[in-house]
Amino acid sequence: MEKFLITGGCGFIGSFLAEELINQNKKVVVIDDLSTGSIKNISCILNHSNFTLFIDTILNKDILEQLIKNVDFVFHLAAVVGVKKVMEDPIQSIVTNIEGTYNVLKGCAKYKKKVLITSTSEIYGKNTNVPFSESADIVIGSTKKKRWSYACSKAIDEFLSFAFYEEYNLPIIVVRLFNTVGPRQTERYGMVIPRFVKQALSGNPITIFGNGEQTRCFIHVKDVISTLLKLIEKEESYGDVFNIGSNEEIKIKNLAFFVKEITKSDSEIKFINPEEVYNKGFEDMTRRIPDLNKLKKIINFQLSYSIKDIINDVVEYYKKQSDLLPYFY
Ligand SMILES: NC(=O)c1ccc[n+]([C@@H]2O[C@H](COP(=O)([O-])OP(=O)(O)OC[C@H]3O[C@@H](n4cnc5c(N)ncnc54)[C@H](O)[C@@H]3O)[C@@H](O)[C@H]2O)c1
Repeated sequence: MEKFLITGGCGFIGSFLAEELINQNKKVVVIDDLSTGSIKNISCILNHSNFTLFIDTILNKDILEQLIKNVDFVFHLAAVVGVKKVMEDPIQSIVTNIEGTYNVLKGCAKYKKKVLITSTSEIYGKNTNVPFSESADIVIGSTKKKRWSYACSKAIDEFLSFAFYEEYNLPIIVVRLFNTVGPRQTERYGMVIPRFVKQALSGNPITIFGNGEQTRCFIHVKDVISTLLKLIEKEESYGDVFNIGSNEEIKIKNLAFFVKEITKSDSEIKFINPEEVYNKGFEDMTRRIPDLNKLKKIINFQLSYSIKDIINDVVEYYKKQSDLLPYFY
C-alpha cells in the first residue's frame, strides 16, 4: 500500500489532503507542530488504522528524516502562513519556511523520495501583469516591509527545490497555490472569506481593508486536492512549477455583499484603512490572477466548485462552531 508523509497535515489544506488519501486507501503519516493546525481538523481520520500523527516540528531533522525514510512520497505543506501571522512573527516564519523546507528536501534527497513543495501566489508580489504565468518576474517590495518576507521565503524554497532537482536528480514538483478557501480555514491570520463569514454570522461589521476594489480569485480546497493528486501521477510534472487556482475574479467589496446576502446578515459593511490593522505603509496587490495554461497542458483541470459553493461551505462550517464571539478585524 502506498504511503504518504504530509508535513503540516493538521492544517487547513493538509487535513483535506490526508482525508482524501485515507479515502483512497493509502497510508498517511502526518508531522505537525499544531502551531496553526489542530487535532480537530483531522478528527475524522485520527483513529483510522492507516493514519499516524507525529506532533513535532519539521525543524527536528532527525525525526523528519526517519519519517521520510519510511514513506513513498512527501507532500510538504508545513509553513507559517498568512500575512497577519507572518507580520506578527517574522523570525519564526522565515526560519520555518526556509530551514523546514531545506530539511524536507535534504531528507528526500537522502532517501530518494518524490516530493511536492507548496509555494504561493504571493511570490508574484507587486507584479501587475496579470494573469501571472509561471515564468513571470517576481516583484518584491522593500525588506523593511515585513509582509514580503513570506513571499521571499517561499521564493527561496523554490530556488532550493530546483537546485535539489538539478544537483541530486530529486523528483520535485512545486505548486504555487492561489487563494484557497473552504471549511476549517481559520480567519485568525488575515484570510478574508472566513473573516467575512464570521463577522456576518456574529452580526459584527464586515470590514473591508481599503476601498474593496482589489480583486482575488478563490478556489475551493477540494479542487486543489484533486489537482495535486492528478499532478503527482504525471511524469512531466517533475522538475517544474505550476500555478493552481481559479481565474474567476471577484472584487473584495462584492465578496462582502455576497457573504452578507448568503448569510442573510444585518451586519454593516465598513471600509477601514489597512494601516489600522497591519502597519504604516502596508502594501497589498490589487489583482492576482493565475495563468493556468501550463497546468491545463499536463492535466485535465476544471473547477468543480463556484464562489457561491465556497461561501456556502464556509458558512455551514462556521455555523457549527461554538466560538462565534464578537469579532472585529
Ligand atoms: N491557504 C492558502 O490560500 C494558501 C495559498 C498559498 C500557499 N499556501 C501554502 O499551502 C500550505 C498549507 O497552508 P494552509 O492554508 O493549510 O495553512 P495552515 O496554517 O492551516 O497549515 C500549515 C500547517 O503547518 C503546521 N506547521 C507550521 N509550522 C510547522 C513546523 N515548524 N513543523 C510542523 N508543522 C508546522 C501548522 O500547524 C499547520 O497545521 C502552506 O505551505 C502555505 O504556504 C496556502
